[in-house]
Amino acid sequence: MRKKIALIGGGQIGQILAMLAAQRELGDVVLLDIPPLENPVKGKALDLMEMAPHGNYDASITGTSDYKDIAGADVVIVTAGKPREAGMTREDLLAVNIKIITDVANGVKANAPNAFCIIVTNPLDAMVYVFQKVTGFPKSRVAGMAGALDTARWRAFIAMELGVSVVDVAGTVLGGHGPDMVPLPRLTTVGGVPLADIVSKETIEKLATRTREAGTEIVKLFGKGSAFFSPAWSAITMAEAYLKDKKRVIPCAALCEGEYGVRNLFIGVPCVIGARGVEKILEIKLTDDEKAMLAKTVAGVTKTVAETKM
Ligand code: APR
Repeated sequence: MRKKIALIGGGQIGQILAMLAAQRELGDVVLLDIPPLENPVKGKALDLMEMAPHGNYDASITGTSDYKDIAGADVVIVTAGKPREAGMTREDLLAVNIKIITDVANGVKANAPNAFCIIVTNPLDAMVYVFQKVTGFPKSRVAGMAGALDTARWRAFIAMELGVSVVDVAGTVLGGHGPDMVPLPRLTTVGGVPLADIVSKETIEKLATRTREAGTEIVKLFGKGSAFFSPAWSAITMAEAYLKDKKRVIPCAALCEGEYGVRNLFIGVPCVIGARGVEKILEIKLTDDEKAMLAKTVAGVTKTVAETKM
């Protein structure tokens, strides 16, 4: 039997998720949105079914506003909620999205209690925290999609700067999904060559700053709404690692209980993702400077999470 992927939120990111999940034949896809958007998501699902003969994929893609239709989902990806507009921070979304995530968490808990859940809605680190508190799901089955995207952006900018294949750029970004996130140049390599050996300190700082502000750069260009292609594929990478037990090492927002000196907080850290969900958090021996940067981002996430009053 095919796996089942439930996508909660059928907007910009949700529709790309549906396309990627179908194209990669991860399973059957249910795209859920709230009334009166039932018909638009049914339309998107039908459009994707009609694309299948060219896409060469076999998957059932359906749209709904009824949580019963996500019953038994193996993976749930949550993008329900408002995106940013120009001039907004991710934290400006807290009040509106906390209500949405609470509703979604209750719907998922009642209908797909065994799913691996990937949260994309912003402010990411707080929303994934709320989702886990409301559902009570084990920490291995709830993760936030942020580090995967932040690291993709870091790698993309380095490849663009150097004119090399992005495939050969390896690195990681720690911390919250915001301007204090911590790219780690010391541990970034280009085909095995340390980044610091081939790029000046000034250029590295420029690339790190661009990575921290990458979401805002896109929001400014769009004017309304935020990035959707790269967040979608980042979440699909996580879903695929789970469904295929790939044991990929992917930075994601995971519940830390002592790792990196962080307690009871979802923060971006390198995770092993396989059939048991977030199977392990890998701890890096950080330098004092890196520890100080991590402490700053953790303080920011702690403040936002405190505002959720959960
Ligand atoms: N249940 C299900 N869907 C909901 C709910 C809800 N309670 N509330 C809102 N939605 C739906 C909206 O109707 C909309 O179709 O969520 C969808 C969000 O889609 P977009 O507005 O296009 O936003 P998108 O760009 O997909 O971003 C979604 O991810 O990256 C974050 O900051 C971004 O928080 C935002 C989220």
